[in-house]
Amino acid sequence: MKKIEIIKPDDWHVHFRDNDILKAVIPETSRHFSRAIVMPNLTPPILTGIHANEYKARVIAAIPKKDNFFPLMTLYLTENTNKKELKQSYENGSVFAAKLYPAGATTNSESGVQNIQNIIPLLETMSEIGMPSLIHGEVTDKNIDVFDREKFFIDKTLDMICRKFPELRITLEHITTDDAVKYVKEGNINLSATITPHHLALNRNSMFEGGIRPHFYCLPILKKEKHRKSLVKAATSGNRKFFLGTDTAPHLKHDKESECGCAGIFNATYCVPILAQLFDNENALPQLEGFISKNGPKHYDLNMNKEKITLIKSNQNLIFKKYL
Ligand code: DOR
Ligand code: ZN
Repeated sequence: MKKIEIIKPDDWHVHFRDNDILKAVIPETSRHFSRAIVMPNLTPPILTGIHANEYKARVIAAIPKKDNFFPLMTLYLTENTNKKELKQSYENGSVFAAKLYPAGATTNSESGVQNIQNIIPLLETMSEIGMPSLIHGEVTDKNIDVFDREKFFIDKTLDMICRKFPELRITLEHITTDDAVKYVKEGNINLSATITPHHLALNRNSMFEGGIRPHFYCLPILKKEKHRKSLVKAATSGNRKFFLGTDTAPHLKHDKESECGCAGIFNATYCVPILAQLFDNENALPQLEGFISKNGPKHYDLNMNKEKITLIKSNQNLIFKKYL
C-alpha cells in the first residue's frame, strides 16, 4: 500500500457556467480543490468588475457548506474593454486576472479578440499593474490545420507579446504540444503554462477509437502521442513553470453528442486520482505536489494552501482507491 500526503491542490482553469449547471458541477471542484480560477466565457461574457462580482456571488452560493473553497474571478478581454475598468476591477479585487480568447477559437469566444494589435494598450496596463493574463493560445485562421493552431499562435502572437512585455505575467493555458513545452521552458520567467489531465492522459487516437468519441473533443484538440509524452515529461519534471489547470468544461450531453458537437471535457470528479495514477506510472509521485499544489501559487505569487489531502493506493491494479 502506498499513501501520500500533499498540500490540497488548486485548479488554475475551470468552467463553472451558470445557474443549474453551476450548481451541479461546483461540488466536484470545491471538494477536491482549495482555489480555482473561474473562466469568464459565459453568454453573455463577464466584461466588467460588476459582472464578475455578481457571478462570484452565484458561485459562492453554490459551494457546499462543508467545503473551504475560494473562487478567483476573471474578466473577458475584448477590443472594447475599457482600460480604466480593467485597472479598477483588478485593483479593487473584483477580478484576479483577464482572459484573452482569440475570437472564434473555442466555446463562447465570439466576443474575443480579432486583432491583437487592438489590445496592446490593455496588455501594457496589465503589465504595469501586475495583472495576470491568461491566454488561449490558438490562431483561428481556418486555413491553418487544426492540429497546428497552437504552434502558429506561439510563433505569430505569443512571441511578440512576450518580447514586448517581458514583465507581463502570462499563463499559456492548456498547452498541448511539444512546441509549447519548449517555448515555455525557454521563455522568460513570467511565462508559465497550465496542462489539463485530458491532454496528459489521451492522444488524438482516443477521439476515433472504434468510432467518433465526442466526449474526447476539446480545444485545443488532442494531439499526437509524441506531444502527450512531452506534456507528461514537463508536468512530472518538477519545473515550476508547469502546473494544473483542468479546463474542466461541462456541456449538456445532447450538445456533445450532436451533428456539430461542442468542445469541452468535464473532468473535475476524477482529476486528482487520475493525475496521481499518471505520475505513479512515471515513478514521479514526489513531483505531484509541485504540479497540483505548489507551482501555481508560485506563478501567481500567492500563499500555498494550509490544508492537506491524503491519497491511498490500496490494491494491485495501481488505482488510487481512496481520495480523502
Ligand atoms: O474544450 C474547451 N472547452 N476548450 C476551451 O477552451 C473552452 C472550453 C469550454 O468553455 O467549453
Ligand atoms: Zn478553458
